[in-house]
Amino acid sequence: MTSIVTVNGNYNGEMLKRPRRKRRTQQIRDLVAETNLGLNDLIFPLFLRDGKRLKEEIKSMPGIYRYTPDYLVREVEQCLNLGIKAFALFPSIEDALKDDRATEGLNPDGMYLKAISSIKAKFPEALLLTDVAMDPYSSAGHDGLVVDGEILNDPTLEILAQMALVQAQAGSDIIGPSDMMDGRVKAIREMLDQHGFQNVSIMSYTAKYASVFYGPFRDALDSAPKHGDKKTYQMDPRNSREAILESKLDIEEGADFLMVKPALAYLDVICRLSSAFEEIPITAYNVSGEYAMIKAAHQNGWLDGTQAMVESLTAIKRAGASAILSYFAKEYAEITRG
Ligand code: PBG
Repeated sequence: MTSIVTVNGNYNGEMLKRPRRKRRTQQIRDLVAETNLGLNDLIFPLFLRDGKRLKEEIKSMPGIYRYTPDYLVREVEQCLNLGIKAFALFPSIEDALKDDRATEGLNPDGMYLKAISSIKAKFPEALLLTDVAMDPYSSAGHDGLVVDGEILNDPTLEILAQMALVQAQAGSDIIGPSDMMDGRVKAIREMLDQHGFQNVSIMSYTAKYASVFYGPFRDALDSAPKHGDKKTYQMDPRNSREAILESKLDIEEGADFLMVKPALAYLDVICRLSSAFEEIPITAYNVSGEYAMIKAAHQNGWLDGTQAMVESLTAIKRAGASAILSYFAKEYAEITRG
């Protein structure tokens, strides 16, 4: 019987195509890489709390902090110096200021709006994505108005549109409605346009799923729902065709960007939306639980957290995301800077 390998170790038959040739060295792998993740693709979420000279680590998110406004400005400066250009800001509001109508979200002297304006005044080049939803300010911990245990859609729209307006007035570049109420993109677009904010964009949380992976974020903001869950407004993880409908509506209503959230368990949705809607950027939110899982495994010595970060972010981009919100943004900037 003749061996399939020759005496000098080559295959005896014919093999003209060898994909391994393009994986032979780092240089050739870099040359043929289809996905290149850079700092232009990342948006860094930052948590904000009231007070002075404080930076509190979030237990379930090692390396991520709640900053008081003075320290937040320093953090933004540091990140800008590392090459991060875009930030998503989320307020952690004390319980005493929460009510059923999320009134604090509209307070022009409130910490959140003041922080937006002071960052913009100091760093006009920092791209700011601000959050529109009732939950950080709501005593019920829901994204919409709760009446008799029901999350009401239409009465919430006016509150969301007002919130978007005050954020635009404070200097927001991009409004990020994260609430999943029907019709909110249109309500916000109209409100912004009526007040001369035609240049403020909307990044809609279009396919936001009712996910357990938001747990650490709710710790960070102390914003977990007091009763029930968010399944009557956030999407069911079993669905992806429904994300097409959500996307069509958001595009018709004037969204500039669509977002899929979470990212890693929903790469198919990112992929599906980015091929179905070539006319609009699809972004993804690599959420708190996805960050926490990698950090926890790293801390236990179960995997290399840095490599897991790079692989995950790259996978999200490969799936079709043109920008990624990620708590890893600063760490990624640090490692790419060397
Ligand atoms: C709520 C909001 C959530 C996140 C962003 N905005 C959580 C939720 O819907 O309960 C989650 C982000 C993350 O987990 O990193 N408006």
